[in-house]
Amino acid sequence: MPDLPALDLLVPVDAPVRLLAPRSDEAELVALFASGSTGGPHVRANMVGTVDGAATGANRVSGSINGPADFRVFRVLRALADVVLVGAGTVRAERYTPLDVPAELRAARAALGRADALELAVVTASGDLPDSLLDTDRPPLVLTTGSAPSLDTLRARVGADRVIVADAGVPGAVDPRAVIAALADRGLVHVLAEGGPTLLAQLVDADLVDELCLTWSPQLVGGPAGRVTHLPTWFAPARALTLSHLLHADGVLLGRWQVVRLGA
Ligand SMILES: NC(=O)c1ccc[n+]([C@@H]2O[C@H](COP(=O)([O-])OP(=O)(O)OC[C@H]3O[C@@H](n4cnc5c(N)ncnc54)[C@H](OP(=O)(O)O)[C@@H]3O)[C@@H](O)[C@H]2O)c1
Repeated sequence: MPDLPALDLLVPVDAPVRLLAPRSDEAELVALFASGSTGGPHVRANMVGTVDGAATGANRVSGSINGPADFRVFRVLRALADVVLVGAGTVRAERYTPLDVPAELRAARAALGRADALELAVVTASGDLPDSLLDTDRPPLVLTTGSAPSLDTLRARVGADRVIVADAGVPGAVDPRAVIAALADRGLVHVLAEGGPTLLAQLVDADLVDELCLTWSPQLVGGPAGRVTHLPTWFAPARALTLSHLLHADGVLLGRWQVVRLGA
């Protein structure tokens, strides 16, 4: 017989190892996910996909493939972050607005030393961001290139100190490493990367992602939807993941994997 691994039988799903009942302060989930930086940046990605690998449903947003279990973890992960980092495509498609931490999670956030305000940071080359983000009293941090056509307009609308030029040395491209470094310079070391697939793939490719939280939505959607990472080239090498834990509710599986960093 070939040398084969033992298999852990994690089902039946009605016999959980431990039940995490919802509670307003989500203390158990906070304890489960609180981790972090030992001083330097810690980048956690949080994404959702269908069982057939789609990052969106037919309506081209993730709202049609997520649900209450995913939302439960999603809001805790936000509460544990200094900053949510997203690409402009996600901001436009998912209609991002300034971020709020739910009142019942603020104590846990404070206990972990996070600032009251949860920052939003957006990567864009075009500078084409929705008015709903630019015309507020809590604009995002904007990470862009020195050649962005709307650089002056962006500076005027969000404040010059909130526009960060992080050129990759390639026209029209922001350097993901410079993004994480610039956030860290502002004390934003607990980074929650919410995609989209284009930005996440670059963060992985640049060996910047420590952890992936991926919700597996029990649906098959077919169609032309992309996956949770989108890059024209293969990761070289493919990145290995180690499973930290797996949560389950009503067929939804929520995995948490540590990315084996190449530079580690
Ligand atoms: N399943 C999930 O968990 C999940 C999560 C998030 C998003 N989504 C879905 O993903 C889709 C959007 O996908 P996407 O891959 O286009 O999203 P994305 O990565 O958020 O956005 C891509 C855009 O971000 C900017 N960008 C990314 N990397 C850049 C770089 N290195 N330099 C300069 N600009 C950079 C560019 O913006 P400009 O065009 O402004 O230059 C680019 O067009 C939507 O349908 C959304 O609903 C799914």
